Amino acid sequence: MKITFTLNGQTASGEAAPAQSAVRFLRDVMGQKSVKEGCGIGECGACTVIVDGKAVNSCLMPAAQLEGRVVETTEGLEKDGQPHPLQTAFVKHNAIQCGYCSPGFLMNAKALLDHNPAPERDEVEKALAGNICRCTGYQQIVDAVLDASEVMRKGE
Ligand code: FES
Ligand code: FES
Repeated sequence: MKITFTLNGQTASGEAAPAQSAVRFLRDVMGQKSVKEGCGIGECGACTVIVDGKAVNSCLMPAAQLEGRVVETTEGLEKDGQPHPLQTAFVKHNAIQCGYCSPGFLMNAKALLDHNPAPERDEVEKALAGNICRCTGYQQIVDAVLDASEVMRKGE
C-alpha cells in the first residue's frame, strides 16, 4: 500500500507492507533511523514521533494511518545545518549516554515545547513520563528540556 504524507516538511511516499507498524515503515522504508523500536508495545517511548503536532508511539500506529498526516522525526530537527536547541541542550547537560532513548525524548520534548513554550519542571516530567531511559537517571534530560525552553524563548 502506497502511503503519501508530509515528512519533516517535505511530501514523501513509500510502500508499506500489509499490517506494517509506523515505526517499521518510518525506519525500514523511509530511512528514518532515529525512530527506534524498543518494547514494541507502547511502554518505552523509544519510537516516539510527532504526528499532526502530537507525540505518538509509532509502534502502536499502523503505517496506513500515516496517510495524509504531518510527521516529524529527529532527522527533521536540524535547520540550516544548526542543531535544534533541544539537541544542543541534551549534549550540554549530558542527557545522552547510549542514545537509544534520545530521539523519543527529543520528539516528546519538542511536542511539549511547541504547545507550552515555558513549562514548569513538573510539566516536563509529566510529559516525558512515558519515555524510559536506562542510562541517565532522567534529571539531566529534564534539565536539558528546561534549558532549551529558556533558550528558545530568548530566541538564542
Ligand atoms: S517501541 Fe514504542 S513504546 Fe516502546
Ligand atoms: S541514554 Fe541510554 S537509554 Fe537513555
